[in-house]
Amino acid sequence: MEEFKRIVIVAYRLPFTIRHRNGKMTAQQNSGGLVSAVLSLTERMKNSNSGTDSAKTVWVGKGEHDAEQMNSLREVKETFELVPVRIPDHVNEKFYGGFCNDLIWPLFHYFPSMTVFGQGYYESYRKANQLFYRELKKIIRPGDFIWIHDYQLFLLPGMVRSDFPDASVSFFLHIPFPSYEVFRIMPDGYQAAILKGMLGADLIGFHTHDYAQHFLKSVRRALGYDISLNTVMAEDTYSRADAFPISIDYKKFHDTVFLPETEKYMQKIHKQKRDRMLIFSVDRLDYTKGFLNRLAAFELFLERYKSMRGRVVFNMVIVPSRDTIARYQEMKKEIEATVGRINGKYGTLDWNPIAYQYKSLKFNEMIALYTLSDVGLLTPLRDGMNLVAKEYVAAQHQKHGMLILSEMAGAAAEMSESVLVNPTDISQMADAIYNALMMPAEERKSRIEAMKKRLRDYDVFSWADDILRSVVRVKTDRKSFRVRLINRDIEERIIDAFCNSARPVLFLDYDGTLVPIRELPEMATPEDVIISLTGRLAAKSNVVIISGRNRDFLDEWFSDQNLTLVAEHGAFIRYPGGKWESSLDQDDKWKERFKPLLNRFTNRCKGSFVEEKRASLSWHYRNADEDLSALRAIELKNELEESIINMPLQVIDGHKVVEVKMSGYNKGSAAKKLLAMEENDFIMAIGDDKTDEELFGALPENAISLKVGKGPTRARYSFLRQSDVVAFLTRMAEAMEQISKS
Ligand code: UDP
Ligand code: G6P
Repeated sequence: MEEFKRIVIVAYRLPFTIRHRNGKMTAQQNSGGLVSAVLSLTERMKNSNSGTDSAKTVWVGKGEHDAEQMNSLREVKETFELVPVRIPDHVNEKFYGGFCNDLIWPLFHYFPSMTVFGQGYYESYRKANQLFYRELKKIIRPGDFIWIHDYQLFLLPGMVRSDFPDASVSFFLHIPFPSYEVFRIMPDGYQAAILKGMLGADLIGFHTHDYAQHFLKSVRRALGYDISLNTVMAEDTYSRADAFPISIDYKKFHDTVFLPETEKYMQKIHKQKRDRMLIFSVDRLDYTKGFLNRLAAFELFLERYKSMRGRVVFNMVIVPSRDTIARYQEMKKEIEATVGRINGKYGTLDWNPIAYQYKSLKFNEMIALYTLSDVGLLTPLRDGMNLVAKEYVAAQHQKHGMLILSEMAGAAAEMSESVLVNPTDISQMADAIYNALMMPAEERKSRIEAMKKRLRDYDVFSWADDILRSVVRVKTDRKSFRVRLINRDIEERIIDAFCNSARPVLFLDYDGTLVPIRELPEMATPEDVIISLTGRLAAKSNVVIISGRNRDFLDEWFSDQNLTLVAEHGAFIRYPGGKWESSLDQDDKWKERFKPLLNRFTNRCKGSFVEEKRASLSWHYRNADEDLSALRAIELKNELEESIINMPLQVIDGHKVVEVKMSGYNKGSAAKKLLAMEENDFIMAIGDDKTDEELFGALPENAISLKVGKGPTRARYSFLRQSDVVAFLTRMAEAMEQISKS
């Protein structure tokens, strides 16, 4: 955390509700977990940065009030420095009401039929993001950790990155990221803008692993960018997507139960519910929350379990939200009509089955309801996380209630001890209510305590810490993978240095460097011009063809020349005019053991194939379906890594190839061996894939390393295309020959 001097939060909403009363401005801090987490981070940052210029955390959010006046309010002054962003009403209508809540919200929650692609929505969305950026830009300074939140600000990280290439930026999505099949329903232009915007961040956080995978798949399919595990690499882009399930301030929810203020509410609730069992739910008004299904399930429960009538009350609290939007108003009416109908059907003189409230709850009142209810019934049709589920569990004490949770909520991934239900299966939910109410106390306790432990161990503070630490890791990794395109000036300088050297060495990779990548390896044979080029360069320098190819292939094409050949990624070396040498164990029986595994993957992935070399087995997937093969490659790599434990083997992940090979050598170690044999005054290496990164990494500081292709690399410079390499080497040979002529 020492890396950062200040936190800058950017979110649609400011962390305070600002009101004007009798000409006086007041501020009330919002109680969200994010606010507490950020405050705690600020506190710890101040401690770890003692003596430096650590300042208050800045929070940029939509607001119409005067910044100076707001920041002078006592409640604000003690915590944040607020930066209000003014968004004119006509823009906000199509930005917040339109693009955010009429398009992104339904689509990302899997309600494509509700998605409205309104006129001017996107333009207003872009405009609003620009307005946020205009304010943010003014305050960014070195040492800031910029943390951007949620779907209202998808474009913002990209805007920051284009002006501040070295800024530390994280983006967190609080709603689901849908599968690519749903995401692609949006016009292509929106897809690209959203993904590129998000990729401006070093780290992109999601609530679940599935959401992160959906995002990565969308990046691969919509943008065609290279993805290695969870890192996206492309020109100017190096970002990581990962799951960081948001949590709660566990202690606060747990301990508030014991406060006198909570006790007061508890007594009141006790009086109202008498000896009846209590089912409780609280959600914002939203069609994603599944209110009508929940009510239908409760009705079926009353129908099916007659003995429960009169003994159970369902307290359903709906918190007002977005109720200026027509769809929300209609839904509210429908909910209220359904509640009325069920109460009318089953209610008696002294019992109403549903106690419905449309209001915000006081914090202590909510905790009292959590603690006293026998069942928490949270059944959204889709929910990014559902914090209420976590809060409900944290507030359970001696008499543990039971949580019924929709498997469509992000929280379900971490709360498997709850009673998980499918929110569209009314019958299953009705039974779940009965079973949860009847669950033996011991079982309730053990399930709730298991979930409580997880919440205690990973609370919202650990969540925020985790994100900060991960950003630092991504930045470190990014530094070792910088991209710098070569240009004519640099080429000239390299050629000059080469011509002026006495003992130069050139390490040249074969596939993708001297020849273009072809569908099948046997099709990628060198043209005469390449063979003659390496021969010409060898007149002045030690030319090393350093390849993953086997010995026979290199012999066939290059043995007539005065070259050093390195086969199978360094397993074998042949000095000019000499014989192949290897320090490897000659036993290759291990390959028999792994062939069935690789063949199995070939059968499961059309277009892939196995290549056998002396010291390795490779599974190539460059001709297979892109998504399926990328997934299979990860699976194969994992299976191989597990089975080679304690064997002298290693697994490598090349360009569209997974390889298992004997360990103890790679292109880097082979290059080091060659460099140790003579004193070279010019060292250059050119390569295109991950195995060449080991070569680049092994070279001394003064070496010139060159990567082919746009991806991030350890190399000093990059060529855009393979053909640029040939042109460059040709110029090098010509310059050398010119000098020797004169
Ligand atoms: N909440 C609130 N006021 C209320 C009732 C609930 O602020 O009257 C809080 C609740 O404690 C929870 C949040 O609102 O932290 C709702 O978060 P959740 O993830 O469950 O749903 P979302 O509103 O994000 O869809
Ligand atoms: C969800 C979203 C938040 C949003 C909140 C309330 O939790 O992830 O970004 O602020 O709902 O919605 P509102 O429309 O009132 O901001």
